[in-house]
Amino acid sequence: MAAKYEQKDTILHVENLSIVYGEKVIISNIGFTEKNTVRPDKPQGQTIAFLGRSGRGKSTLFRALTGLEEPTTGMVLIPDFEKPIVNGQQPAKKVQEGDVGFVDQKYTLFRHKTIYQSLKYALRNVKISSEEKDEKIITYLKDWGLQTCRNQYPNELSGGQRQRTAILEQLLSSGLYMVLDEPFSGLDVGNIQNVKDAFRLINDSHELNTIIFSTHDIELAVELADSIYVLGYLKNDDGTLTQTGTILKHFDLKEMGLAWQHEFTADHLDITKQIKQIMLAS
Ligand SMILES: Nc1ncnc2c1ncn2[C@@H]1O[C@H](COP(=O)(O)OP(=O)(O)OP(=O)(O)O)[C@@H](O)[C@H]1O
Ligand SMILES: [Mg+2]
Repeated sequence: MAAKYEQKDTILHVENLSIVYGEKVIISNIGFTEKNTVRPDKPQGQTIAFLGRSGRGKSTLFRALTGLEEPTTGMVLIPDFEKPIVNGQQPAKKVQEGDVGFVDQKYTLFRHKTIYQSLKYALRNVKISSEEKDEKIITYLKDWGLQTCRNQYPNELSGGQRQRTAILEQLLSSGLYMVLDEPFSGLDVGNIQNVKDAFRLINDSHELNTIIFSTHDIELAVELADSIYVLGYLKNDDGTLTQTGTILKHFDLKEMGLAWQHEFTADHLDITKQIKQIMLAS
């Protein structure tokens, strides 16, 4: 049965966004709005997925969403929680670097910090005792299969270990919003489960918590997200593809009654197939 919910304040608004490098229009005409979802019976965050074939502009868009890159046209607005509410609405501001947690596709880490030191640093603004922080870190390291390399530096880690450390670092330090570029790629089955569990936990703990991620795994996106955007190349008048990415389709799984379910149904499979067709043609 479809879950009851309401859509409240805007939490992310993207308008007419394009990014041009030199002569090349990488993405254009990107616009969408995501709102705070409120359910009567439980805290419900937002999980938003971006799908699209390689080179369609997912990472480029994510750099704009996190304020790392100034768009050529358009803007990205998020609520400004430092300002008082006016007429029942939180005033908006242009996103700036540092406003939003970001795990980039290269899983960038502090070069001179061990895993343990990085995670301790990530908790620097959390108001619990140093012992409690240690306990928390040790539990995570164990659960995420990182305990044996806790004192190693990034250049001494495997790709998957670096990736998990980068994700954990954001989980521990981020505010309400978190953008993750391909957090699942290259992880083994156990670690995929860890990241999925972490997403669920974040989603269930505060109504404003918002996770935005990209993936090449369509099924995983349909399973986890309540809102999915498919990026693809725009078409020329003659039907041939341009090299410019844009949003081709939005699937609101809440509206479809498919969000927040604990099983993957025939309807989920149907959406997966639809998305695959759109991607293959773009
Ligand atoms: N600094 C840059 N200068 C010029 N072109 C760039 C630059 N960065 C990315 N591009 C181009 O922008 C396009 C989109 O790249 P982007 O990394 O956003 O794609 P993506 O959807 O994240 O792909 P993938 O799934 O492979 O990660 C590509 O054609 C890429 O070559
Ligand atoms: Mg990318």
